[in-house]
Amino acid sequence: GVGIYQGSDGYMYCDGLRIDDIRATAEASPFYLYSKEKIRENYTAYKNALEGLDYFLGYAVKANNNFKIMQFLRELGSGCVLVSGNELRLAIKAGFDPTRAIFNGNGKLPRELELAVESGCLINVDSEFDLANIQAAAAKVGKKARVLIRINPDVDPQVHAYVSTGLAGSKFGIRNTHLQWFLDQIKADTNLKLVGAHCHLGSTISKVNIFRDAAIIMVGFFKEMRAQGFNVSFLNIGGGLGIDYNKKGEVLPTPKDLIDTVRDLIASEGLTLILEPGRSMVANSSAFVNTVTGVKTNGNKNFIVVDGSMAELIRPSLYDAYQHIELTAPHPDAEVATYDVVGPVCESADFLGKERSLPTPSAGDGLIVMDAGAYCMSMASNYNMKLAPPEWWVAERTQLQQIRRAVTLEDHMRARAAVQGLALGL
Ligand code: LLP
Repeated sequence: GVGIYQGSDGYMYCDGLRIDDIRATAEASPFYLYSKEKIRENYTAYKNALEGLDYFLGYAVKANNNFKIMQFLRELGSGCVLVSGNELRLAIKAGFDPTRAIFNGNGKLPRELELAVESGCLINVDSEFDLANIQAAAAKVGKKARVLIRINPDVDPQVHAYVSTGLAGSKFGIRNTHLQWFLDQIKADTNLKLVGAHCHLGSTISKVNIFRDAAIIMVGFFKEMRAQGFNVSFLNIGGGLGIDYNKKGEVLPTPKDLIDTVRDLIASEGLTLILEPGRSMVANSSAFVNTVTGVKTNGNKNFIVVDGSMAELIRPSLYDAYQHIELTAPHPDAEVATYDVVGPVCESADFLGKERSLPTPSAGDGLIVMDAGAYCMSMASNYNMKLAPPEWWVAERTQLQQIRRAVTLEDHMRARAAVQGLALGL
């Protein structure tokens, strides 16, 4: 098998290695564990599905900014989409080709825009003030900026409100009714070159016809832009493809399903398709590996308390998201009961899963939260002084390698103490 899966012996695996054996080697718990081969498989699924089209993939670095993972995706041929100056710096260090990097966001700062112009990456125009800042950055740096306009197609992605981004009332993108104003401004500024348009509907999307609806609307905008003499060819339809978090045998659309819904439009209009997958590139490559601290019962509720928490994996607390949980070893003789899986953080919102039917574990047993490759490590916090755990991947199916070491108290305090001017004797 490739990725995180249950073997026929009942143990959980990452590629060719038993997770319990990995736990023994890793020693420190909790940790994030990735399958390098699964990331390759996810990238290849997009690449193969895009065959025959002009395209590039812009991996959404916000999903997972582990440097080794970024470098690996770059080696596979990926571009990237970035939402902060620091993500852009990281992407440059990881060797991404700036002509296939997109700097996106509704609050890009002037100094970040100068870096973006300097580096030669594509820049999304998000609002009137954002355009003014891009113009100023290009003038200051003395270099032409290649821009896309982020348009809201106003198509409902039918997802959680917090991850819906392409509706008319969204904080992202321009007022579509004002498109002509943007075109006039860009036409008048010799420092800017309009190369295309962007939209992003939302995240965890499970119906691909939504992408087609959006692409049809976007093609309409391309016709308008071309009629005015703009040589635009990049249609960026964002990211957002959902993955199978629930493990209930539901069949979700694949990258091929998504691309096939827009293929004819892209080809007939002579466009270059840009996709910005984050979650569907990395989420299912990973598990967040925990150790059980103990089991308790209060009122009519049973709890499995583990060493990981909302500090390392906040999606359940923040979006009520479901991520599947398994024990790493079979427990054939244990009683099965309904448990909330919770961490040690001082918040009732600190849970990794609710009402899960699981065999009763013992202290020291392994427990994994699946699909932890996207928006888990990258959204981690230091609440309760929880420090970023290490990351490991399995390379070439059996090689366990640490791809980020744990942040130590000393690392953390050095950074914090230094900026506070404290002498903590660490
Ligand atoms: N492009 C743009 C402009 C985006 O805003 C996003 C995600 C992506 C691409 C990548 O979307 P993906 O393929 O990963 O769905 N923290 C939330 C997800 C926030 C997504 C933000 N934007 C979560 O944990 O579900």
